[in-house]
Amino acid sequence: MSDSDAAAGPRFRRPTPDDHARVVAVIDEWWGGRRMRALLPRLWFEHFASTSWIAEDDAGRLAGFVVAFLSPDHPGTAYIHMVGADPNRRRGGVGRALYERAFADLAERGARRVEAVTWPGNRISVAFHRSMGFRVDDGPGTSPIYGTPAHPDHDGPGDDRVVFLRRLDAGG
Ligand SMILES: CC(C)(COP(=O)(O)OP(=O)(O)OC[C@H]1O[C@@H](n2cnc3c(N)ncnc32)[C@H](O)[C@@H]1OP(=O)(O)O)[C@@H](O)C(=O)NCCC(=O)NCCS
Repeated sequence: MSDSDAAAGPRFRRPTPDDHARVVAVIDEWWGGRRMRALLPRLWFEHFASTSWIAEDDAGRLAGFVVAFLSPDHPGTAYIHMVGADPNRRRGGVGRALYERAFADLAERGARRVEAVTWPGNRISVAFHRSMGFRVDDGPGTSPIYGTPAHPDHDGPGDDRVVFLRRLDAGG
């Protein structure tokens, strides 16, 4: 990718099931070698497209994606399952643009709050979510992990998680 390619703003569209293969082909690399594929089965592109987005450049190269949904069990609550931006475009506003689009989708469908989680060692994700208006849950059951309040063993033994919360109906 040239500098001019990186500078060009991406285009945004809904994902389709055909996008699944190209996204899972890159996500382990985008997450710095962490094994992410199993967390993004094809069903996300088949059943959650109306609250999810793909960003791509003029040549159709993937620039980023976000997958989100409304909670079936908790009316008014939405959840962002995964967001990623091409490492060559980081700090260029792709993540912010994807989240803003997802927030609009979710609010339009009745969500008043949105949640997300990350692992405490992912300092960039923590900074990104704070920048996007999320607060870190520091309530009961949390303790500082890598300097951020987190829920130990949230997703299983050793799988600690920072839980992020953001209002959608009161300016963040
Ligand atoms: C998290 C991620 C999606 C952010 O995407 P991005 O396109 O680089 O983010 P943006 O450029 O829109 O940044 C928005 C804000 O987040 C914060 N931010 C983003 N990256 C940051 C970093 N490396 N350090 C500190 N703050 C950061 C900044 O406040 C930034 O605003 P600014 O650039 O005006 O200061 C991207 O880093 C990524 O794909 N990481 C790997 C996957 C991942 O961990 N996803 C999150 C967990 S599911």
